Amino acid sequence: MTFTSASDIDADRLHDTEVIGDEAVAVAHPNIALVKYWGKRDESLFLPVTGSLSMTLDIYPTTTTVRLIDGPADVVMLNGSTAAPEAHSRVERFLDLVRTRAGRTEHAMVVSTNTGPTGAGLASSASGFAALATAAAAAYQLDADPRALSRLARRGSGSASRSIFGGFVVWHAGAGDGPAGDHTSYAEPIGGDALDPALVVAVVDNASKAVSSREAMRRTCATSPFYRPWADSSAIDLVEMRKAIARQDLPAVGEIAERNALGMHASMLAARPAIRYLSPQSIAVLDGVLALRADGVAAYATIDAGPNVTVLCARADAQRVAAALRAVGDFVDPRTAHLGPGAALITGADR
Ligand code: PMV
Repeated sequence: MTFTSASDIDADRLHDTEVIGDEAVAVAHPNIALVKYWGKRDESLFLPVTGSLSMTLDIYPTTTTVRLIDGPADVVMLNGSTAAPEAHSRVERFLDLVRTRAGRTEHAMVVSTNTGPTGAGLASSASGFAALATAAAAAYQLDADPRALSRLARRGSGSASRSIFGGFVVWHAGAGDGPAGDHTSYAEPIGGDALDPALVVAVVDNASKAVSSREAMRRTCATSPFYRPWADSSAIDLVEMRKAIARQDLPAVGEIAERNALGMHASMLAARPAIRYLSPQSIAVLDGVLALRADGVAAYATIDAGPNVTVLCARADAQRVAAALRAVGDFVDPRTAHLGPGAALITGADR
């Protein structure tokens, strides 16, 4: 396991701080939702309108070190550079929550390195906040079981609640508002790993998205006449998806995932003003997926809040799918993922 430690990367910025000694390093992987989370019923507690279901990937890990310091403020380094003000505040707010729960006051130095594209609709915030929650809870000695860690990660980024766990994971919408909703909205693994699919990630654009998922969700919920119908149908998709995974029915899993994602994008397109993450390249990849199906390959697309398309298929078909997507155009750079592990601390020899 390779990672950049706080001491490697940022000795200069520590000039006015003193390391207190508590340090933890965690790794987490992104997840791709097969039934999407889109829309919050409570923005400050990150309570979703609907439940969602994802698979955690085995590629693009994020490694995050949290080290307690005796300094005037938190120091946040993302991918080797000082975090931009907005990202810094997001991490600081998250650390404030951890400090409040742990009854601690020390600031921290956070060094986080993503191996996948950041902010491009490939779940970098999911792996990022799952790794941060895991490392920060350990560094501040917060007593948190996996469910509590999932609820904590949710407060950084909703989808991060799912990356605490490996394999197929459901995130329960939870019941009620305020503390009741907070306690009942967590993710948990659902098994079903025997399905063991491949997910071919067709990266068509590495750039960060112009509209954040937070803003896009807000606008879709507030203005799209298609939002409520999508949310209602998504609740049904979730029930059917769980059954399809349990019976290892890949075509059904794929069909539900594809209709759920396209419905989510349709609800965004109907927002005022419209939110359009899909690019001509995304549509070309969707056409490539249809062509694969016409050729008898069980391949199904899903798309998050960005132009990149991920294609679900059987493990045995992954190479054929990747080759077909590459043939769509030289803008497609496919990578194949499988079911991956949950977030974990790195200790001892692995460090
Ligand atoms: O957790 P956020 O704020 O990055 O939102 C994730 C939204 C989607 O990726 C589009 C869907 C999902 O369930 O992951």
